[in-house]
Amino acid sequence: MVKEKRIALLPGDGIGPEVVAEGVKVLKAIEQKDKNLSFTFEQFPWGCEYYLQNGKMMDDDGLSQLQHFDAIYLGAVGYPGVPDHVSLRDLLLKIRKGFDQYVNLRPVKLLNERLSPLKGKAAKDIDLLVVRENSEGEYSGEGNWLYKGEPEEVVLQTGVFSRKGTERIIRYAFEEARRQGKSLTSVSKANALNYSMVFWDSVFEEVKRDYPDVETASYLVDAASMFLVMNPERFDIVVTSNLFGDILTDLGAAIAGGLGLATGANVNPERTYPSMFEPVHGSAPDIAGKGIANPLAAIWSVAQMMDHFGEEEWGRKIVSTIQQIMDEDEKLTPDFGGEATTAEVGDRFIKLLTS
Ligand SMILES: NC(=O)c1ccc[n+]([C@@H]2O[C@H](COP(=O)([O-])OP(=O)(O)OC[C@H]3O[C@@H](n4cnc5c(N)ncnc54)[C@H](O)[C@@H]3O)[C@@H](O)[C@H]2O)c1
Repeated sequence: MVKEKRIALLPGDGIGPEVVAEGVKVLKAIEQKDKNLSFTFEQFPWGCEYYLQNGKMMDDDGLSQLQHFDAIYLGAVGYPGVPDHVSLRDLLLKIRKGFDQYVNLRPVKLLNERLSPLKGKAAKDIDLLVVRENSEGEYSGEGNWLYKGEPEEVVLQTGVFSRKGTERIIRYAFEEARRQGKSLTSVSKANALNYSMVFWDSVFEEVKRDYPDVETASYLVDAASMFLVMNPERFDIVVTSNLFGDILTDLGAAIAGGLGLATGANVNPERTYPSMFEPVHGSAPDIAGKGIANPLAAIWSVAQMMDHFGEEEWGRKIVSTIQQIMDEDEKLTPDFGGEATTAEVGDRFIKLLTS
């Protein structure tokens, strides 16, 4: 029986549409090759241009329009002229929260040694998966701004760590570690954050009792940052909070080849709502419209989408084809020292994937 998957496309701003176009080409190539899969696409114009014309980042009933898709494929959101906190909160975070995409999966995998700025690190040394809490924590948006502009001005930014939110992300990470037969490292900061992170650590210890077969470690985020640079081989699966995950995965991207290769899946594990797949990078206004954006991170997002659909074989194939295109070193965009255009990389990718 043919599996039909409906995919909502949100190309967004800047280079978003350029890289999403290549990802869609890859999906269409998979469909051609695999008679058991069929994809239909619907594109939504939401983003900063839409905001400048309509005064909002997405339609008021945007979430209900997206609700019945099997996946959302997003390019990037944000552009000069619209404050970043507006574009982020009113589109991306609205979807992540509204669809309870509480797991953010960010692989950090070195595909080619020449890509890492670290000395003497081989591909086997940098291969981890960060499981970032994606629905609350430091990004809850709670707080207050008192006595604005006065000498007594006070700003409060509240981290929200619920038992449900903390336990479910830690449990998800333990399940993933067990499934992959790998170790799990928790990253927190209980010495300084005496409520939230003491709580995080205690929940980690509690949940750990249910997984005696999983080897664990627990680091403060400052030490974890150091280890990620000095000994990345220490890490397999990492579970951490929203803010720490955000920062650690940019560091992870830096040691594994930069933003041109960093991908992230926003997952609703219960599948009550669609999950969203996107490159980690932004809209890159400095190169938008030039046709030189690197599409490989967006293509890696397609691999995560395939994994989510239960098509892990295609997921693996896409990642190994990215590796192949890096090894070949012929068709790469300028950020990787090449001269190819976005579309040329996409075309070469498809040739390798389907040959
Ligand atoms: N998930 C998202 O949608 C997301 C993430 C980060 C930033 N943003 C937004 O994007 C806008 C620009 O942010 P920024 O400049 O801090 O980050 P950015 O990721 O857009 O760009 C940072 C640098 O990396 C380069 N770069 C990024 N992606 C690239 C690619 N695929 N190929 C080649 N080079 C690439 C850019 O040219 C730039 O020099 C802001 O409005 C920001 O809010 C959105």
